[in-house]
Amino acid sequence: MRGIVLAGGLGSRLWPITKVTSKQLLPVYDKPMIYYPISLLMAAGIREFSIITTRKDSEDFKFLLGDGSKWGVSFEFLCQDAPKGLPDAFNLVDKSKLNDGSVLILGDNLFYGSQIAQKVMQLLNRPDSAIFGYLVNDVSFFGSFELDSDGAITKLIEKVSSGRGFAIPGIYKFDSTVMSYVKDLIPSKRGELEITDLLKCYLLENRLSYQILDRGTAWLDTGTVENLNQAAELIRVIQTRQGMLIGSPDEVALRSGLISPADFEKLLDGYGESEYAKSLLNVLSGYEN
Ligand code: G1P
Repeated sequence: MRGIVLAGGLGSRLWPITKVTSKQLLPVYDKPMIYYPISLLMAAGIREFSIITTRKDSEDFKFLLGDGSKWGVSFEFLCQDAPKGLPDAFNLVDKSKLNDGSVLILGDNLFYGSQIAQKVMQLLNRPDSAIFGYLVNDVSFFGSFELDSDGAITKLIEKVSSGRGFAIPGIYKFDSTVMSYVKDLIPSKRGELEITDLLKCYLLENRLSYQILDRGTAWLDTGTVENLNQAAELIRVIQTRQGMLIGSPDEVALRSGLISPADFEKLLDGYGESEYAKSLLNVLSGYEN
């Protein structure tokens, strides 16, 4: 199964911070934002990635991430010329790479919590198409769904209704038939292909399922200054209190056996004298003992 990480867009809600740098390269405490979705998918077993960026930022992502081999995975970088919506990512990826299904994750969504990698694995093991549901106080900022008394999805809504309900976090599992729906999608009023329209195609055929992320999971979208700071603070508090890293592809690569402790040690050189390097050193000493 292929992981598709969306790291394009103008990041206009964060201007001027994102005038010269991609949003997904901004720090969330001690590491770039894109480390979080990549490490989560790696922990859930994904090894082949397509990373969608703007043309302007593409070289920066390549410089930071390389071809993935340092973490025992593979990255291809694809450029999206204009923000045409989340499902447009499928128009960029070679069709043959979607044959085993795919998981689309937004580069600015951050998940943390007990067993989160296992929960993502369960999502990926579902048939057809699958989403998470996350109870929030105000669904109007997100895609959301409504349920009938039997717990079946009756309606998918993109950022209109308000109030408490189930928001759809930015991680979506699709089967190999996704392109047959994407090709017929038409842009919404805001001129973009909408992920909820794609999900509706699956829902119509009873091929969409969901899994609720319980209160033990934190889901943050880091698209605004407020949210970005909240996310950084959450990571800071948990990491410093527990002395454990969150969202480190280096650590996941080591713990998943994708690289050896010797390979891991070499990665440390690339992080200089940073706090992140010190945290990795702790991972290594804990791992070897
Ligand atoms: C996108 C999706 C929305 C989803 C959200 C999650 O919104 O369109 O359905 O709930 O991501 O972060 P955007 O952040 O692009 O406005």
